[in-house]
Amino acid sequence: MSLIYHEEDKLYDVIQDNSRVLQIMSRLGMPLGFGEKSVRQVCEDSGVDTVTFLALANYMKLGKEVVYYFIDKISVASFMDYLIRCHHYFHFFLLPYIRRLLVEAINYSEANKVAFLIIKSYDEYAEAVKRHTDLENTKIFPNVKLMVSGHPVQGFHISNFIRSHEGMDKKLTELRNIVIKYYNAPTSAHQEHLYAVLIQIFNLEADMRAHCELEDSLFVPAVQLIEEQLPENGNKMPVEVKEEMRESLSEREKDLVRCVAQGMSNKEIAAKLFITVNTVITHRKNITRKLNIHSPAGLTIYAIVNGLVSLDEVKNAI
Ligand SMILES: [Fe+2]
Ligand SMILES: [Fe+2]
Repeated sequence: MSLIYHEEDKLYDVIQDNSRVLQIMSRLGMPLGFGEKSVRQVCEDSGVDTVTFLALANYMKLGKEVVYYFIDKISVASFMDYLIRCHHYFHFFLLPYIRRLLVEAINYSEANKVAFLIIKSYDEYAEAVKRHTDLENTKIFPNVKLMVSGHPVQGFHISNFIRSHEGMDKKLTELRNIVIKYYNAPTSAHQEHLYAVLIQIFNLEADMRAHCELEDSLFVPAVQLIEEQLPENGNKMPVEVKEEMRESLSEREKDLVRCVAQGMSNKEIAAKLFITVNTVITHRKNITRKLNIHSPAGLTIYAIVNGLVSLDEVKNAI
């Protein structure tokens, strides 16, 4: 296949062709002010692996077709460095930045129940992203680093990593759908802010999706290649990692969350679902453990954001 960007191209020309390359540069910590230097010169000056930069820039332009070209050429270690920098950018800049815009746009106050729920659900999304990126930073990447240095890791298999992206953007998509369909801005000034923040949310969704795709399409296959070259190391991820990836509720637990969102007591839930109060308490403990949500208000937001109940159904409970 033919690449579109090469190491001898002037970096300025690459940016001129695709301004999104600036995003890669910023996350790799590459400085501006590079004059007429080539991609390779700027990468070398800033300590960035040139092949990794070219893989990212070409992937951004051409998509998955570049995977087979780069899969055995990229430096997995510098690729991980890029992914860690992306996580840092999401957590410390982009997510708080959009939260500030959202707070301003929806006239946030604890008295405004719908606005309160919107911010709470945004915070839950940000928390889910943080849990995911923390898992990668602390459990996945250290094991991959060991493999890169030639050490098999007992019980670790990178293919389990792919499934961890399922449903990542669901909460954010549902949140912006609620805003678009049901939220009435109190003033025209708020409405202008709201349109601006919605565009930012769509961009955030696209950015996050691209990040996950890059991990699934290029990072995972590159690590699989390393795995194949190491002695057999089993096919199970350590139990603690699997536990952290599991978030989904059973159908029975979803029934229970619906009841909690409607303001029902444990006794009322037991009567409605034909189970004992003790069983209700056990289910609630399991739900708390799985979702890391402790309060009825938090479960209400979860129920709305995940489509288990409508805003009308919970109106009297909040
Ligand atoms: Fe990631
Ligand atoms: Fe990820």
